[in-house]
Amino acid sequence: MKKILVLHFSQTGQLTEILNHLTEPLLENDLDFVSLSMKRKFPFPWNADTFFNEMPETVLEKGEALDTFQLKHAKYDLILFGYQPWFLSPSLPASSILQNPMIQKVMENTPVVTVIGARNMWLNAQESVKKMILANQGQLVGNLAFIDENNNLASAVSILHWMLKGKKEKKWGIFPKPGVSDEHILGASKFGLIIAKILQSEKWDQLQPLILLNQGVKVPTNILFIEQRAKIIFKLWAKLIVKKEEQGRKRIFWVRFFKYYLVFALFIVAPIVLFVYNLFIRPFSSSKIKQKKTYFCGITYNNQ
Ligand SMILES: Cc1cc2nc3c(=O)[nH]c(=O)nc-3n(C[C@H](O)[C@H](O)[C@H](O)COP(=O)(O)O)c2cc1C
Repeated sequence: MKKILVLHFSQTGQLTEILNHLTEPLLENDLDFVSLSMKRKFPFPWNADTFFNEMPETVLEKGEALDTFQLKHAKYDLILFGYQPWFLSPSLPASSILQNPMIQKVMENTPVVTVIGARNMWLNAQESVKKMILANQGQLVGNLAFIDENNNLASAVSILHWMLKGKKEKKWGIFPKPGVSDEHILGASKFGLIIAKILQSEKWDQLQPLILLNQGVKVPTNILFIEQRAKIIFKLWAKLIVKKEEQGRKRIFWVRFFKYYLVFALFIVAPIVLFVYNLFIRPFSSSKIKQKKTYFCGITYNNQ
């Protein structure tokens, strides 16, 4: 019997559901399923101001205090770390978990599998998470990404409806149901089975290839294109808002300015730029795109 620690925060319960199904085949082990939360609470449903107000600290990865929690053991054979991206970064609770001294200690010299429950943009967040796991001397051995596979713009409208109304339902009955599909959530157990097998042999280098063989990570080209550009801009906005606040300016004015910028960038600029990219650049960049997708489907960290 192996000792497995499952760590996560979930606001709506979506990630909890994914992890519940994922761990079904692992139940015969000594499973420590720990649901963590920050001392500071987030509203649900959000309103536009509270939602976008979390951007600066999230992007700047400012870890905050967690509610008190207990772990059954001091050392585990495997850690499953579930998290969600917020604003192309690890969510604030996820950054807080990875920067918590108790978690840092338990992660030392331990295999870690990351389990992402996202809309569809998790590539930059995973780079930060890889870096933090490395800093904690954990050993990243696998990554699974559960995403909403609907069209990017439709899924953005759907998720905003979910976050701002609090209901995981089809907006106006016409937009797709937000979040990870029920089919994919239920199907998570197939990856639990793979993890269970590898856990016995401890041949961790075989895990990610098996996850990929079973479509456990997909990187759409349009998302790759957007993510490679947007994070730099988010960082500039985050620093600008913090600076304005420090200068005594009204933070909410700048947060709202960011909100309008984001809506404009996502719904107007991105489709035009993507149209041009898909027509003129993408056909001549296939080997570069393939190389990048291979990297993001993997678990190595290229800190350049
Ligand atoms: C403030 C906020 C920002 C988000 N930003 C992103 C994002 O950048 N990329 C993404 O794929 N999903 C994003 N999401 C969706 C979350 O990753 C997640 O899928 C959703 O909130 C459900 O997670 P839960 O298990 O915590 O309820 C965001 C959600 C919130 C609340």
